[in-house]
Amino acid sequence: MPKTDQIYSDRMLSLGLARVSEAAAIASARLIGKGDEKAADQAAVDAMRNQLNILDIAGVVVIGEGERDEAPMLYIGEEVGTGDGPGVDIALDPLEGTTLTAKDMPNALAVIAMGPRNSMLHAPDVYMDKLAIGPGYQEGLVNLDMTPTERIIRMANAKGCAPQDVMVCVLERPRHEALIEEIRSTGARIRLITDGDVAGVIHCAESAKTGIDMYMGSGGAPEGVLAAAAMKCMGGQIQGRLLFRNDDERGRAKKAGITDLDKIYRRDDMVTEDVIFAATGVTDGSLVRGAHRDGDFLETETILMRSKTGSVRRLIYRQNNI
Ligand code: FBP
Repeated sequence: MPKTDQIYSDRMLSLGLARVSEAAAIASARLIGKGDEKAADQAAVDAMRNQLNILDIAGVVVIGEGERDEAPMLYIGEEVGTGDGPGVDIALDPLEGTTLTAKDMPNALAVIAMGPRNSMLHAPDVYMDKLAIGPGYQEGLVNLDMTPTERIIRMANAKGCAPQDVMVCVLERPRHEALIEEIRSTGARIRLITDGDVAGVIHCAESAKTGIDMYMGSGGAPEGVLAAAAMKCMGGQIQGRLLFRNDDERGRAKKAGITDLDKIYRRDDMVTEDVIFAATGVTDGSLVRGAHRDGDFLETETILMRSKTGSVRRLIYRQNNI
């Protein structure tokens, strides 16, 4: 008989979560550089689902592979886990960076976050305008209503540097041409990424290591919630506003229970309670190494975090290379 009223102990579940992202990364890593995004994604989905289903949780996927009619596995609303454990919300992206994996480019990750029931925004699969900065800055130092120029000036003042010493991470997309031009006109520098804005946002929280101070631009709203979970653990700031291109997308938001379509979601609106977050490298990246062979072993690196304590662990996992 499932016991969904069990107390949620994220401390005990965090290692289980790392196992889930490790499994997804290992499975998709076999398809690195093979030019097949779909196969890499499917391998990650299968492995993530198998591992999730042996965890003693009564989980519900709130950020997943898509609506039930589009995604046969890990769809939004799918129940995962043995059912014999606490009720939890799960946000996941088994392979964040399908193209990065297919082309063997940096920063593809297997990502998952878990929190108590109703702790994460049920973001529809639409775009989200995102803005993120790392920890240590005054709350609201920059916001989505400011122009990119104002944001950069405020960041430069807070850092005590010139705009030239501010590095902004942006997804390289035609829709960002005007944004890129304006950022460059301030003198600030841009790290362009071809995919993977969850990693792009997390980079702001480790700016000493990555050199990135701010993330700007639009990407997937589900990825925005995952990034918010990571920033909650790392003490960084993120804001997002949903973007709609047509009525179908507005309909998706309504279906997800969203009534204010212009709302700016702050980090704690997207993730309202303490969560745990795990990301395992698929390809090598600046956050974690990719899954790789080391002699007779297959090795992965995972960043595992809990927002309750702000703990950030890096776990190396090795298994016999079968
Ligand atoms: P996939 O792994 O699903 O391919 O997503 C990669 C990604 O770059 C995300 O990180 C980002 O949020 C989104 O795609 C951007 O979407 P688009 O490619 O349509 O600009």
